[in-house]
Amino acid sequence: MSGGLEREIAEIVAADGPMTVARFMELALGHPAHGYYMTRDPFGAGGDFVTAPEVSQMFGELIGVWCAQAWQTMGTPDPVRLVELGPGRGTLMADLLRAARIMPVFRKAIEVHLVETSPVLRAAQKAALEEAGVAVHWHDSLAGVPDGPAILVANEFFDALPVRQFVFRNGAWHEVVIGIDGDGGLFLGVVPHDLPEDERLDEAPEEGAVLEIAPARRAVAHEIGRRLARWGGAALIVDYGHAARDYGDTLQAVRGHDHVPLLDRPGESDITSHVDFADLAAALARAGTAPYGPVPQGDFLESLGLTARAEALKGGGEPDMAAEIDAAVARLAGRGETEMGSLFKVLVAADRRLPPPYPFTGATS
Ligand SMILES: C[S@@+](CC[C@H](N)C(=O)[O-])C[C@H]1O[C@@H](n2cnc3c(N)ncnc32)[C@H](O)[C@@H]1O
Repeated sequence: MSGGLEREIAEIVAADGPMTVARFMELALGHPAHGYYMTRDPFGAGGDFVTAPEVSQMFGELIGVWCAQAWQTMGTPDPVRLVELGPGRGTLMADLLRAARIMPVFRKAIEVHLVETSPVLRAAQKAALEEAGVAVHWHDSLAGVPDGPAILVANEFFDALPVRQFVFRNGAWHEVVIGIDGDGGLFLGVVPHDLPEDERLDEAPEEGAVLEIAPARRAVAHEIGRRLARWGGAALIVDYGHAARDYGDTLQAVRGHDHVPLLDRPGESDITSHVDFADLAAALARAGTAPYGPVPQGDFLESLGLTARAEALKGGGEPDMAAEIDAAVARLAGRGETEMGSLFKVLVAADRRLPPPYPFTGATS
């Protein structure tokens, strides 16, 4: 019940003062009783949004091909931890594992570790992976995944981690915060709060410029980088966002496939913001791991054989099915504004001792 979370947030603000957007996001998505992801399966046409693995099995299958290639580059370690961060319904992992059957030695070496906080989605993942015939381990955070060589995959995970928002007004930086009005309702306001020097893009931002910073995302990227540098392996991060740091208000709340106001019924809408890939790449590099990219999702999938896979799936099937597959290809790799091909990007990271992973073969980090 969303009223419960709204009241609880109002009580916290009354007791502690204005709340950062990051704390609001953390509660709205992850509150143990009322958090958006903790209480529902939000995917699909009848839910709030559709992710790439839910568009088509081809997405997870091609990521499976990428993982098999990464494993070979790593020198075929056995066992290898196959880690997925924020696995949703488990669809990507199920499709990935099915595709990995083309390389039985890889499939046999895989130990699956899922990082997931939602009990509802953990149950969905368990059901999706029942048939896969592999041992699956769940963790609340990456810290719980045992040490060892690993391949990590994260699709639309980082965009759900909290961001802080700052706005430049009257010649000074302010932080965007949630306050309560005289009737106990939530509203968005600002409080004077300087932006740390190392977060600034320049000395003279325009009036009204908004900058988002995401220490929580940076911390996870750093932990991925630390693991890969220490134990070897590769990571694939897919999300929507920008390749270079820039100003802009990208926070959004979505319910039933529509945008809604950020503070409307907290806990009942998905809240995300664009991922700053330059910031993630810098955190990975600081931890001693080589970042590659990002590249547009469309280029990445096409280089892995999206067109050929689509043709194979069509086979001699019905025209309706062929049209559905073509629509999925367009959605995943098309460059239009409502398609995922360029809005979504792929960042790869790998142990510096390894040759660059696909599709960066021959690149220098
Ligand atoms: C937008 S969904 C993406 C799901 C899936 N990767 C897909 O592409 O369909 C975000 C996922 O991250 C999980 N999640 C969100 N915040 C998390 C956190 N702090 N720790 C672990 N999982 C989290 C959610 O429960 C959900 O499974």
